[in-house]
Amino acid sequence: MNTISDNSIKFNNTEGALAGDKVIESHKTIGQLSGMFADEEARSKMDPSQQVYRVQAYLPVPDGTHAGLFFGTTWIKPGKVGDEYFMTHGHFHQLADRGEYYWGLKGNGVLILMDEQRNGRAEYMYPGSLHYIPACTAHRVANTGDEELVFSACWPSDAGHNYDEIKKNGFSKRLFDRKGVPTLEDI
Ligand SMILES: [Fe+2]
Repeated sequence: MNTISDNSIKFNNTEGALAGDKVIESHKTIGQLSGMFADEEARSKMDPSQQVYRVQAYLPVPDGTHAGLFFGTTWIKPGKVGDEYFMTHGHFHQLADRGEYYWGLKGNGVLILMDEQRNGRAEYMYPGSLHYIPACTAHRVANTGDEELVFSACWPSDAGHNYDEIKKNGFSKRLFDRKGVPTLEDI
């Protein structure tokens, strides 16, 4: 067989969109993110159906497969809850020692990181920024701009997502708009 085939999966490397078999899509609304933002009262007064972010993921192997890779794109809407920028839920990996790559495609934002000792730090995200997320490091992204923030990711297919730890204890730092300047603050 010397036939050269066309891969059925397409990736738009400026817009981020994925298309093809085994591409799944999900989204999160204001109503689904209770308890995540510092100003819960402000969140509870917003339209619960308002979308905060959506994710496409290409899962070529079953979730949990050893030594495979997954690929995805996240679109975060511009917006704030109180003074805190719209952001992803954030997670450690279920297999905590699995790393990940993120890279910026469109818009401006900040990647917020926290190790298992709750030491926090952050990196600017913009088109062309590349981010190596080390093992045992929780990660979340906030959109600090006026337009949609788009970034893609590649992670091990056995990494899994541990959202419970973040639900319970949150991140050690939050990102607020302070007079128009993205400002990282300790909790
Ligand atoms: Fe991850």
